[in-house]
Amino acid sequence: MNFFYVIIIYGGYMKKIKKLIGERELNTRVKELSDTLYKKYKDEQVVFICTLKGAVFFSCDLLKKYKGDARMEFLRVSSYKGKTTTGKIELNLSISQENIEGKNVVIIEDIVDTGHTLKFLKGYISDMKPKTLTICTLLDKKVKRQADIEPDYSGFVVDDLFVVGYGLDYDQQYRNLPYIGVIE
Ligand code: IMP
Ligand code: MG
Repeated sequence: MNFFYVIIIYGGYMKKIKKLIGERELNTRVKELSDTLYKKYKDEQVVFICTLKGAVFFSCDLLKKYKGDARMEFLRVSSYKGKTTTGKIELNLSISQENIEGKNVVIIEDIVDTGHTLKFLKGYISDMKPKTLTICTLLDKKVKRQADIEPDYSGFVVDDLFVVGYGLDYDQQYRNLPYIGVIE
């Protein structure tokens, strides 16, 4: 009886998500981005900043494919509640300046939407005087941009849809989907 109940709930949960970018497509594009970044930096050391929690799957896959000297740092900012931005960006986990100053730094983001988060992050890291600063995002919701900022590299441009999976959430749910989907 209990088992039957779980299957019905699980079926309902899966039905709500429409696949937008599949696993193979993600894998191919992440490899391309990793190779592009390696060509840019070659044998120089690079500090990759994974912005938690959304960029965690993307960061891990990108770095596993990276052939050069990569270091990993983590930052945590939050701006979203549900599907709408609160407009207020909070820094929940910071980085010490000694890990950034004079280094080649790449900020890894999950998605750039209005751009307010990225603008905040870029300002915060720039103040720590990196040698170079590059922004790499998996997804770019270009049509929604408000802030005057563009990523240097992006995996995919997406329409004005609320996407989940591969790290991206809707109120903390759906991060574990191996693909990018849209809630129907
Ligand atoms: P921005 O400040 O409006 O650019 O928002 C950026 C942040 O909002 C991203 O790093 C995500 O955490 C979150 N976000 C924006 N759009 C989506 C979406 O479609 N799905 C999930 N999270 C999103
Ligand atoms: Mg994010």
